[in-house]
Amino acid sequence: MLKVSAPGKCILLGEHAVVYGHPALAVSIDMRLEINIKKLSSKSEYHMIEGKEIKRNHHPHIFDAINEIWGADSQKLAFEISSEIPTSAGLGSSAALSVAISMGLVTLKNEKIDLEKISSIAHKLEADSQGGLASPMDSSTSTHGGCILLANEKLGKNWLYSRTLNNKKWEIHSFELHQNIKDVAIVIGNTGIHGSTGDLVKGVKKRLEENPKLIQDIEAINALTALGVNAIEQGDVETLGAVMNLNHTHLQNIGVSCKELDDLVSAARETALGAKLTGAGGGGCMIALSKNPKQTARDIELAGGRSYICKFGVEGVKIEDSMID
Ligand code: MEV
Repeated sequence: MLKVSAPGKCILLGEHAVVYGHPALAVSIDMRLEINIKKLSSKSEYHMIEGKEIKRNHHPHIFDAINEIWGADSQKLAFEISSEIPTSAGLGSSAALSVAISMGLVTLKNEKIDLEKISSIAHKLEADSQGGLASPMDSSTSTHGGCILLANEKLGKNWLYSRTLNNKKWEIHSFELHQNIKDVAIVIGNTGIHGSTGDLVKGVKKRLEENPKLIQDIEAINALTALGVNAIEQGDVETLGAVMNLNHTHLQNIGVSCKELDDLVSAARETALGAKLTGAGGGGCMIALSKNPKQTARDIELAGGRSYICKFGVEGVKIEDSMID
């Protein structure tokens, strides 16, 4: 049995705009997905998950990963997945799955572990399941852990690699968080409503085609992300909070928020430095940057959300157990 785990993530700034090649910043969080992989006997005809045959319409990431890395006709495998990351909630559960399975299959093939390659395969799996529109934000953060900045130019020492998809290019960097940022809390508020990342990303594209003026909101998110990154470098948590608040307004304008998210964001702002939706939106989660995490969590709960004070910047994908039979 081979056991691999990968973390979820939350996006501090820049979601959706990042799909159009703009910068974004995300941190890994202490919710992990774990995948167990076992080789089946030579008599087995199918790759299996939780005792059932893997079919593409039910498990697209796993099905495509097997074809891409392992080979559909190679020895059959059995998978079991357990996860602390809520699905369709903006916290990177599908990226964690793509990253963990890519790492697992590459390890099983005895290939050299190269994190750039793992995140690249996972990005492709994500893009295939999002109709071709996906940034490498979620897959890079789950692979490397810590804090990841996607930028449109190389920014010196912390550059990891470049990634291109559909004429969009991102420069991926690891980013060291200032101690002041590590000292504040990120409180996650979950609306409990599921949002499909693929549908939300396609919805933004359609609205941009129908109403080209919305590009101003994408550009405003771009400018705010630059301000936020600067604030993080300076350890200026107040400015970062204000930037997050403004970022949320532009996400509302491009149509990816909803009443439930807005209610949690407003409630959290009573005690937080700033709050915004995180990830694709349409339900899912918001995050608040707070010096009073318990009060902020309580306010989120009173407004109808489920709250979680997370540890962030945790380790990326890792092999938990490599006893391969
Ligand atoms: C989803 O976590 C983030 C989006 O920006 C999509 C993407 O980056 O692929 C909405």
